[in-house]
Amino acid sequence: MAFTIKVNGVDRTVDVDGDTPLLWVLRDMLGMTGTKFGCGMALCGACTVHLDGAPTRSCITTIDSIGSAAVTTIEAIGETPAGRKIQNAWLGREVVQCGYCQSGQIMSASALIASNPHPTDSDIDDAMSGNICRCGTYVRIREAIKQAAQSAGQGG
Ligand code: FES
Ligand code: FES
Repeated sequence: MAFTIKVNGVDRTVDVDGDTPLLWVLRDMLGMTGTKFGCGMALCGACTVHLDGAPTRSCITTIDSIGSAAVTTIEAIGETPAGRKIQNAWLGREVVQCGYCQSGQIMSASALIASNPHPTDSDIDDAMSGNICRCGTYVRIREAIKQAAQSAGQGG
C-alpha cells in the first residue's frame, strides 16, 4: 500500500505494508541512514526521530500511524534553531565517542531544548533517560545540553 509522509519538509511516497516501522522506511527505502537501529523495542533510543517535534522511537512507529505528522530526522535537525544549538554544543564539548547512539541523543536533546530552553538537571534526566550510550558519554551530554541552553539564553 502506498503511504505519503512528510520527511524533513518533503513529501515522500513509499509502497510498504502498513505495519512497517518508520525506521526501516527511512533507512532502507529513503536511504536516510543517520537514524540508527539498536534494540527494535523502544528500549535504547538510537532510532529517535521527531514527529511534530516530539521525540519518537521510529523502531516501533508504524508507517500507517504517522498520518500528516511532520517527520524530522538527524539529517535535518541542524536546520532548526534548537538542533543547531545542540549540534554546536555537541562539537564544543566533544561529546561523541563511537557515535552509534548519538543521532538519537541529539534528537532527544533538541526536542528538550525546543520545548524547555532552560532545563534543570531533573528535566535533562527525564528527557534523556531513554537514550542509552554504551560508551558512557552521559556527563558530556549533560554539559552540552547546558551549554546549548546558555546559548539559547543569549539569543544565539
Ligand atoms: S532501536 Fe528504537 S529504541 Fe532501540
Ligand atoms: S557514543 Fe558510543 S554508544 Fe554512545
